[in-house]
Amino acid sequence: MEQLPQPKLRTSTDIQGNILAAFNKDFMDFRYLHFPDAAKGRGWLSAILNTVATTSETEDFNEQFSVARRAFGRDPGITVVRCGVSLTFEGLTTVAKDPAQVRSDLEKPFPSFVAGAAARAADLGDTGDSDPKQWLFGAGTGDQVVHAVLIVAADTDELLQEKLKNLDAVEAANQVVRVHVDEGRTLTGALKGHEHFGYKDGISQPGVKDFHRENPDQPGFRDVHPGTELIEAGEFVFGQKSEAGDRTAPRWMANGSLQVVRRLRQDVAGWNAAVVEGATKFTGTMDPTRLGGCLVGRFKDGTPLAPPNGTVTGVGSDRNDFDYSNDPAGEHTPWVAHIRRTHPRVFAGIGDGHPKSHRLMRRGIPYGVQFPGGADDDGVDRGLMFVCYGTSLEEQFELVQRFWANSDTFPPGKPNGPTPAPNGFDKVIGLAGEASIGLADGTHGTVDMPRFVRTTGALYAFTPSISTLRLL
Ligand code: HEM
Repeated sequence: MEQLPQPKLRTSTDIQGNILAAFNKDFMDFRYLHFPDAAKGRGWLSAILNTVATTSETEDFNEQFSVARRAFGRDPGITVVRCGVSLTFEGLTTVAKDPAQVRSDLEKPFPSFVAGAAARAADLGDTGDSDPKQWLFGAGTGDQVVHAVLIVAADTDELLQEKLKNLDAVEAANQVVRVHVDEGRTLTGALKGHEHFGYKDGISQPGVKDFHRENPDQPGFRDVHPGTELIEAGEFVFGQKSEAGDRTAPRWMANGSLQVVRRLRQDVAGWNAAVVEGATKFTGTMDPTRLGGCLVGRFKDGTPLAPPNGTVTGVGSDRNDFDYSNDPAGEHTPWVAHIRRTHPRVFAGIGDGHPKSHRLMRRGIPYGVQFPGGADDDGVDRGLMFVCYGTSLEEQFELVQRFWANSDTFPPGKPNGPTPAPNGFDKVIGLAGEASIGLADGTHGTVDMPRFVRTTGALYAFTPSISTLRLL
């Protein structure tokens, strides 16, 4: 019989769910809320406190689920609802008993959190049609200022709707203003587990020491794919050891995490057409499937373009056993590829003291109905609710978005391919522009694309520990 694992951070009953262990639900609503005053905000928080999931219960469920699936070859059919709550800087200072203290605790060490996502827009490329003026949340004033983000995640729509009804009553009782709601839904049929452009998502995540089991014999076990590197929990949760030394934070932030929420609208018809058109501009063997793979770094079924490094530990399309050290010039996985931009793994000669300090724990889910196909945009709002957690906005999400995705000279001194040329911006999440690709078989060319992902809402929030929530 399979032994139950013995891992876990001692504090996993205090850390909210969805940070270290994903909710992994098909139905996930995001409610962006405003508190009319401190007392009502606290009233709402204390009323929802008991519904907030812990890491242990989230992880125990996930584990039972995967053990049962392996043993019986099917899903065990248990359904649950999980909630998570985060507070923006404005939300924290509204509900805190000593707002001045909270402000002074945060101002110096957490400048981006205090400024908020809208104030960081220009640096992050949220310009033009991604400008905060057009956001559905995150840039409002008055009673449109978001104080809290509530995630309600369920295995079925029925369960979700039942839970939302209870939560409606709690909001009404505390006169909470609902600024906006997003309905995250996994895609269905052949696109299950994929994002709207059609690529499999949710494959490569950091593993966490003392939490995830380092056991390559159990593919898929506990969210970590074989070959995945385990890093310190302090990269994602305050009060734990981090890779670069302790990321210091006030005591009340211990076991909490910073959350990034970005509502990223995707133009699927535009992307599809650009990949078809772009492939015709190459010399050598290029077709839309290969070019799409080059821009993402994995093909639609998840298979990476990268050959394994050394020992092959991965199996199937979810393989994660590569670090690009055998591909410094981007001849297998071009430097422009989204997965290489956002996680360059070994830096192929480029100095960086702590490459492990820039990892993101991603917890996104698509929103909007699936693209029905066809050449033209159907005008439907669909995209990705991008969510990630970490302990430094500046060193993690912002660094990745700003200096890796949105820099056309990244990595410095390492232009692409046998005919060096600028690497261009990340074509999935970066700015418009050219990117050159030169592959090992001699195929080469330049792709010039506008943006097909635009930001339509964004927030920075803090996900407190259960014990801090109780004190608010
Ligand atoms: C990986 C799509 C936004 C960071 C991936 C993968 C896909 C994907 C298909 C490969 C599957 C996987 O390994 O999980 C998208 C789409 C986006 C989007 C369609 C927007 C609509 C973002 C943003 C960031 C980001 C905003 C951060 C700034 C990452 C990271 C990985 C990843 C870190 C893992 C790379 C690795 O470890 O190999 N994304 N993504 N993504 N994405 Fe995104």
